[in-house]
Formats: sequence, C-alpha cells, structure tokens
Amino acid sequence: MKTIITFGTFDVFHIGHIKILKRAKELGDRLIVGVSSDRLNFSKKSRNPVYCQDQRLEIINSLKFVDEVFVEDSLEKKLEYIKEFKADVLVMGDDWLGKFDFLKSYCDVVYLERTPSISTTEIIEKIATA
Ligand code: CTP
Repeated sequence: MKTIITFGTFDVFHIGHIKILKRAKELGDRLIVGVSSDRLNFSKKSRNPVYCQDQRLEIINSLKFVDEVFVEDSLEKKLEYIKEFKADVLVMGDDWLGKFDFLKSYCDVVYLERTPSISTTEIIEKIATA
C-alpha cells in the first residue's frame, strides 16, 4: 500500500486542481489531501478564500480519487503530517520546486507540472472585472 500526500487551498475549484490530484493518485494507492485552513490561506495569499474551509474540504473529499482529507493549519507541519498519515510520497506543484527537498530522507518528494494558464487568483480577477 503506497500512500501519497499533497497540500493546497483548492479554492474556486478548477481543472488544474483536478489534474494534479488525479496524477498524484496515479503515483500510489491512497491519496491524502491537506486542505489549507482559512487562516493559513490568509497568511499565504493575504486574502480570504471565496469558499470556507469546510466547503473546500467537502468538495475535495467528494472526488473519487481522493481517499482522505484533513485541515492543514501550518506550512511548517509537513513532516508531522507525513508521519501521521505514514505517507510514502509527498506531491507538490512545481511552483514549489526544490522547496521540500529537505523531506527526502522521510519520503519521496515529487513535483508535478502545473496546468498552464489557470489559477484561482486569475479566475477571481476575471470575474471581478467582468
Ligand atoms: N495547481 C496546478 N495547476 C494550476 C493551479 C494549481 O497543478 N494551474 C496545483 C498547485 O500546484 C497545488 C494545487 O493545485 O498543488 C492547489 O493549488 P492552489 O494554490 O490551491 O491553486 P491555485 O489555482 O494555484 O491558487 P492561487 O491562484 O490562489 O495561488
């Protein structure tokens, strides 16, 4: 049984989110997703998410290739979460390339290419200016 773990805010769910989660699941048998808390998201992006954490968790949890979700409340706790869920592989988007290499002594660290030309921020801006 190979367990994959990944993290993100997944606000205003879009195709880039689907694609990375699908590819992450293909790397193993079980996919665990840490969904950023509203507070963590605010500290990362200086804005509140459009969808609150309970709704984002429910959306991610209802995907057929996601096995379990939890709230990520600190960026500094990746190793704790990896140990807690006995993850074999950490998957991150390549916007984080190299940033989690220090965890390679605990698990494999794989950076997957982001889907081009789409992001939550762009969608919010597009709607705001429509
Ligand atoms: N992601 C991706 N391709 C995209 C957008 C996001 O693969 N076009 C991945 C990220 O690399 C991350 C996960 O989806 O692993 C969740 O990213 P998140 O930050 O929630 O989404 P973004 O659309 O990047 O949000 P924002 O614009 O607010 O930064």
